[in-house]
Order: sequence, then structure tokens, then C-alpha cells
Amino acid sequence: MHIPVLLGEAVEWLAIRPEGVYVDATAGAGGHSRAILENLTTGRLIALDKDPLAIEIAQEALLPYRHKLTLVNEDFTGLFQLLRRLQLTGVDGILADLGYSQMQIETPGRGFSLKAEGPLDMRMNPNERLTAAEIVNRFGERALAGLIYKFGEERRSQRIARAIVRARPIRSTVHLADLIEACLGGRRAASRAIGKRIHPATRTFQALRIAVNRELELLEAFLQAAPECLAPQGRLVIISFHSLEDRIVKRQFQQWARAGRMRNLTRHVVRPAPSEVWANQRSRSARLRAAERLPESSPAGSPEAAGETGDS
Ligand SMILES: C[S@@+](CC[C@H](N)C(=O)[O-])C[C@H]1O[C@@H](n2cnc3c(N)ncnc32)[C@H](O)[C@@H]1O
Repeated sequence: MHIPVLLGEAVEWLAIRPEGVYVDATAGAGGHSRAILENLTTGRLIALDKDPLAIEIAQEALLPYRHKLTLVNEDFTGLFQLLRRLQLTGVDGILADLGYSQMQIETPGRGFSLKAEGPLDMRMNPNERLTAAEIVNRFGERALAGLIYKFGEERRSQRIARAIVRARPIRSTVHLADLIEACLGGRRAASRAIGKRIHPATRTFQALRIAVNRELELLEAFLQAAPECLAPQGRLVIISFHSLEDRIVKRQFQQWARAGRMRNLTRHVVRPAPSEVWANQRSRSARLRAAERLPESSPAGSPEAAGETGDS
């Protein structure tokens, strides 16, 4: 079951008006969507996900709220066009809870998990062409090493890429995970080297998932369009799960503040309380940032626009 992360905080930072129109850009299993819907009276929620299976699950989970819900199987980079089609000019709030869902990682056939035997797939949208198998079995060694370094922040990327190329064809998730574990000298040695108890293939799997789903590129495109999707004083709340995503969000928020487009609301990045981390391990790396659209007239660089940018 997918446990929504930073749920209370997300609802709080959205400052939901019961008659407002909101967007959940990453519906997943519908956890955040439900919390938003519970706060709406005459308002409406547009919830989207690019994974058709997530939409099916959310549809069933959110059945009691269907009169105030529009669920769409679409990439969040198409939000601006979607709102136009729905004849909405600007919404009161947008939430994006980035990354993968529990359903995706727990379905071996999707190929997201390094622990369960499955095909090297990792596509959130099964209609996309690029799979993890394609990258692992066809990319040149240098390109593979570069990708693992950039998206996995894995400093032993060259060693891993060399081992992959020598062992081709890589047949499955577990084949890849075992190969990386063997090439890095076993789980214990790798764990000590990075100071954490994580599987040595974790960073490579993250890199492949990010590359297959073009996660950083699409996040940047989504952020570019987000202010235009919001009404003045509409809020944007982003929950990210690793430093690559959070860096993009933080920089974009700072840029908007300088340009007088959005006010940064979160002085410090919001992290889950220890009790949440204890109850849900996946929340440990979550970071939430929130910003508010300013009226067009706000002068660039004004204290109002700059808000609080000195965050960590
Ligand atoms: C962390 S889960 C969301 C979980 C959800 N907030 C809940 O409480 O159940 C992230 C979801 O975002 C979806 N997703 C990722 N990138 C997307 C994109 N570019 N456009 C639309 N959906 C995306 C994934 O398919 C996944 O279902």
C-alpha cells in the first residue's frame, strides 16, 4: 500500500479553499488526492498520472469523491494544455509528489525493484519506447557510465559500466543487481564505503529509472509551465525524494523570486517529522517546498517576491 508522504504538510501548504480548483499532478494511489478532496466542498480536483494503472487504482480509491474529481492519464508536462481543454484559466493550487509509487516498485513485472526478479523495464508510462533493458544492453560503455554517474550520483560508475558491458546481455533486474553487487566487492564492502545500509545497486537503479522516465527533464518542463497554470496567489507544492530533483526545484523557486513571478513560502525545506520516518521509511528522504504566484505587478527582486530564499 502506498502511504502518502508529508500529507498534513502538503495540505497545509496548499492552503485549500473549499470552493477552489486544485491539481494533483501525480495521483499515484490517490492518497494526497483524497486529502485534498476531503477539504473541498464545491471545489474540484484535477488529478493526473502518466501511469494508466495508477489511474485505475486512483479511480477506485477515489470513487466516493467522483462528483468533484477529474482523473486524467497524462504526463504533467501537458498540464497547461489540459487546463485549457477543461476551460480553466488558473487553478488555486498544484501538488506534485515526485518519483515512483509503492504499486510500481511492488509489481515485479514493472522492473523497478532490484529485489524482485523482473524484466528491465522501469517505464511509468508503458507507451514510451525507452526501457531500462535498452539502456543497459545497447548504450556504449562511456554513455552508460556517464548516465549512472549523473543520475545515480554513483562515483564507481565506470567500474559498473564496464562490468555491465562485459556481462551482456543483462536479462533481468536481479541479474543486474547481482552483477553490480559482485563488481563492487559485495554488499558489506559497498555499504561501508558509502556509510549506509543500502544495496550497492540502488544508485544504478535510480539512475536507470530517472533516465528511462526522463524525470529531471520533465520536472524542469513542468516547473517552467507551472506559474501560467496558477491563478494569482495560487500555490505550488513540490515533494521531492533526492537531491537532484530538489536542486532543480530550489533553483527554479529562487529564479522565480528574483523575477517577481512567485513568492517562496518555505524558508527552510520541509522534512518529515521523526514519527513519520519511523512509520514510513520511504519518507526519510522527502523534502517539500512551496511557492505562491504573485500578481503580475510585483516588482522583480522586491522583498515580497524574494520571500525567504535562504533555505537549506
Ligand atoms: C510518489 S507517487 C504519487 C503518490 C500519491 N501522491 C499518493 O499519495 O498515492 C508518484 C506518481 O507520479 C507519477 N508520475 C511520475 N512522473 C510523472 C509525470 N511526468 N507525469 C505524470 N505522472 C507522473 C508516477 O507514475 C507515480 O504514480
